[in-house]
Amino acid sequence: MAGPTYDTLTLPAHVQTVLLTGANGFVGREVTKLLLELYPNLRIITTDIVAPPRYVDDEKRLRVVQADLGKPEDMAKLFEGEKIGGVFALHGIMSGGSEANFELGWAVNVDSHVALLKAVRKHNDEIYGKPDGTNPRIVHVFISSLAVYGGPKAGPKDHVIPSTSYGVQKQIGELYAYDYGRKGYLDTRSLRLPTVAIRTGAPSTAASSFFSGLIREPLQGIEAVCPVASSPDDPMLDEIPHYLSRAKTVFRNIVWGLCMPESNFKYGHRSINIPGITITPRQIIAALKEHGGDEALKLIKYEKDPAVINICLTWAGSYDNSEALASGFEVDDAKTGFADAVADFKAALEEEAAAK
Ligand SMILES: NC(=O)c1ccc[n+]([C@@H]2O[C@H](COP(=O)([O-])OP(=O)(O)OC[C@H]3O[C@@H](n4cnc5c(N)ncnc54)[C@H](O)[C@@H]3O)[C@@H](O)[C@H]2O)c1
Repeated sequence: MAGPTYDTLTLPAHVQTVLLTGANGFVGREVTKLLLELYPNLRIITTDIVAPPRYVDDEKRLRVVQADLGKPEDMAKLFEGEKIGGVFALHGIMSGGSEANFELGWAVNVDSHVALLKAVRKHNDEIYGKPDGTNPRIVHVFISSLAVYGGPKAGPKDHVIPSTSYGVQKQIGELYAYDYGRKGYLDTRSLRLPTVAIRTGAPSTAASSFFSGLIREPLQGIEAVCPVASSPDDPMLDEIPHYLSRAKTVFRNIVWGLCMPESNFKYGHRSINIPGITITPRQIIAALKEHGGDEALKLIKYEKDPAVINICLTWAGSYDNSEALASGFEVDDAKTGFADAVADFKAALEEEAAAK
């Protein structure tokens, strides 16, 4: 099953229009740009509760819809007059946000995703007819997280015991998506993302947000808090190995999640551990020194936050990604992957500065 990879990022023939939710978020923005770059003839409908950016003026290529997916009337307008073949379900409330606001996390990460699956199924039956084994089905890519695992290193077939509300909510989302796939209603896939580095823009409410922040803020002359250590000598800097992937790799893996054949799921599940590499906060700080020197290091404030540490200690730091690799997903080089991610981020900063 060795993988077709990005030179064969070929969409299934019936996928001529895709819907992408969470399009104003960090990942949503970048995946939209990648889709525009890869597929000049694809129609993309982007949506978010906060109006997503309009990268091209051509309404035929990009339709932008501001919608609260918790509201049925907003949900309905996404599908009107469309023939959607693929969905990237990316919207959500991150781990720290879901832990801080229990009701909001459940409403967005579970209720609105269940409502979306129902709406996608209805649309599927309207445009392709009820699935009969011969007609196409919408490919629905639910974006999950490795936070579904609360315990030690595990593979996609192992039991998941989430240790945050976010992880529980993502696991429930996966189970819903799985059942729609099992019943043959839709062609569903759940992609469990590692931390995406380096996150551009404002910090997210994810507990892992500081892993990107330790690079992002100091390289822009802004202070960053390291919430897992009280000083640069704190041994905790070695004790929180973290699993992350270069952002560019994750975005392409997400697109491959829609392109790959459904027959790649050979073990009765529909979840994929998106590959990453393991890195410690100390290695991140070393990378900051390399790229920003001692001036950048001075901008790190060491302020231990037990709430963040408690969440971080539930992460395994490494996950079994063998099935993903066999299915054509890509992994960063363990030695250079993080340096590549920092280099991408620096290039993006320079591009931004040049555009001003
Ligand atoms: N970034 C990461 O490191 C990471 C890691 C693992 C999983 N993920 C998952 O990837 C997806 C995208 O992550 P991100 O980093 O872009 O997050 P983000 O917070 O930047 O974006 C999420 C988007 O969802 C939108 N949203 C929230 N509630 C909504 C609602 N009711 N209706 C419509 N839109 C709503 C927000 O406005 C936001 O733009 C999420 O599902 C997240 O759980 C991300």
